Amino acid sequence: MHWKAKEKGIRPKSCIMVQLKDRRRASAPQLPHGHGGSAPPPRRANASAVAVAVAGGGWRRRGIEKKGEGDAIFLPVEGAIASAPIPAAKRRRSLVRSVFSRSFTHPDDTISIQFSVYPHHRVEMQEGRKGVPSLLSSQGECIASNITQLIGWTPLIELKNIAKNDGIAARLVGKIEPYQPLSSVKDRSALRLIEDAEERGLISPGTTTLAGVTSGNLGIGVAFVASQKGYKFIAVMPAKLSMDKQILLRYLGVEVILVDPALNGFKGLLDRVEQLKKDIENVFVIDQFTNPANPDAHFRWTGPEIWKDTAGKVDIFVAASGSGGTVTGVGRYLKMKNPSIKLICVEPAESAVISGGEPAFHNIQGIGPGFIPEILDRSQIDEVVTVTTQEAMDMARRLAREEGLLVGISSGANAVAAREENKGKMIVTMFSSGGERYLNSELFAQVKEECININKSF
Ligand SMILES: Cc1ncc(COP(=O)(O)O)c(C=O)c1O
Repeated sequence: MHWKAKEKGIRPKSCIMVQLKDRRRASAPQLPHGHGGSAPPPRRANASAVAVAVAGGGWRRRGIEKKGEGDAIFLPVEGAIASAPIPAAKRRRSLVRSVFSRSFTHPDDTISIQFSVYPHHRVEMQEGRKGVPSLLSSQGECIASNITQLIGWTPLIELKNIAKNDGIAARLVGKIEPYQPLSSVKDRSALRLIEDAEERGLISPGTTTLAGVTSGNLGIGVAFVASQKGYKFIAVMPAKLSMDKQILLRYLGVEVILVDPALNGFKGLLDRVEQLKKDIENVFVIDQFTNPANPDAHFRWTGPEIWKDTAGKVDIFVAASGSGGTVTGVGRYLKMKNPSIKLICVEPAESAVISGGEPAFHNIQGIGPGFIPEILDRSQIDEVVTVTTQEAMDMARRLAREEGLLVGISSGANAVAAREENKGKMIVTMFSSGGERYLNSELFAQVKEECININKSF
């Protein structure tokens, strides 16, 4: 494939999206749902569409071996758009659609791949999503017409007080995801998972019911994106996990199905979703653990935002893994920009599965699901750091008091792990959710009890 890509003027090291098409099913090339442009017919029908070959061979290093029809993978191929033959008119028309598509046929005529290059994968031009700051800084009226437009572009803050108090010589920087419309990093994934399914023609408003297993934050993100796009959403959750998130989901109008966590663990939740697919017509399962659209949200938006706002100075990126979407997507983007950036993955010490341990109960909500998610790209992680629930909560409380940052438990875990003694280096981490989401959790238990007791005397 490399030879063909080169021939077409695609040079290694920027980013294109490759959409695989099974040529046996169509005589004419098909573009993904809703995409403009046309491609020349393949020279001949192909036997298989599951093998992948791409420019530069980066796919092999990323461990991508087999993909099915319509699957998307992201590859570093510099200057793809610049050197690709895209008609100017088509380029102007297509803001979020494919702007060019070509079939490449392997010399042995067994593999055919249709390239769909998306403008928002033009990494040189990509700066993340619009978000609030750009609305504020633009000229004239600054009024969002839909809450989903406000997803993205969260601010960075340097933890000057914690660094000073702990004698840390590195620069500690946190990305404040509580600035998202519904206060967590998962708003990004929710939007991308739904948009991606729409782009593939898998769901349509008013017809499809979305369903998924969630420990809360993804569900809350899906809830508001789904409501704005016209989808019903059913969330399947482990009972007793987070009262705050259950309250919020119901408040947002979501149907919440609770499953006894003692029954088959995570499998019990998946079984309940499978049952829903049998019981209800047109159910689309939002699966953050296997769907590449989840890390894609962070490759497109979170990563570029960090790169731009740090002026490319980030040396180390630290993120706790739940679905693995953040650490995989941001890590992939940052390493593409600068391969020497170190990627640190954080997991609960009580359930250190990525480090080879056994799954067990812990209280760092949103991370450490007890298994290794399919989308977690371990090949690019340089180090896995474990943090106990106690350490994470202590740090979350310190962030509130010393930095004025009201963030959640996993944010505390990230700040504990962002500790490399690298003088002058910049360590960027995620403050993945807002603290108010945990008012009924252990994080606030002591203060809550104090408040209840004080109020009893009145
Ligand atoms: C509070 C919180 N922190 C961290 C994460 C982990 O993010 P990811 O799923 O991208 O690994 C999640 C995921 O739900 C979360 O809710």
